[in-house]
Amino acid sequence: MGEMSKLTRFGVSLETNLLAQFDALIEKIGYKSRSEAIRDLIRERLVSEEWKKEDQEVIGILSLVYNHASREVTDLLTRIQHRHLDVVISATHVHLDEHNCLEVIILRGQNALVTKIADELLSTKSVKHGKLIRTTMGQNIS
Ligand code: NI
Repeated sequence: MGEMSKLTRFGVSLETNLLAQFDALIEKIGYKSRSEAIRDLIRERLVSEEWKKEDQEVIGILSLVYNHASREVTDLLTRIQHRHLDVVISATHVHLDEHNCLEVIILRGQNALVTKIADELLSTKSVKHGKLIRTTMGQNIS
């Protein structure tokens, strides 16, 4: 993250019940203060706004669970990796059981391209469960 900037205190009004629920949640998670919990919420929202920009550089962590009997996913993975050498920076394969495989792929590049590659894989028929997690290096976030 960027260099430390000066702190500003501000007051927030919210419903007593909502605050009680928030306090219970952050205590359960383990936050030591409301301030840190609120800072993280704000950063999370700002990062998710960055994902909306098509030209933003993002890191995508894509997980795919699929049955290896279908060659669909592995064939597509091979094609995509050869086509986008600079975008697919890592791929790990785990044999989960007799039939199921987990593939974790790390992508780095323009948001629009990372999303397109992930969608192409996620929409493959033999993928039982998959998820794309996007993050950024938060260049524009304090
Ligand atoms: Ni496998």
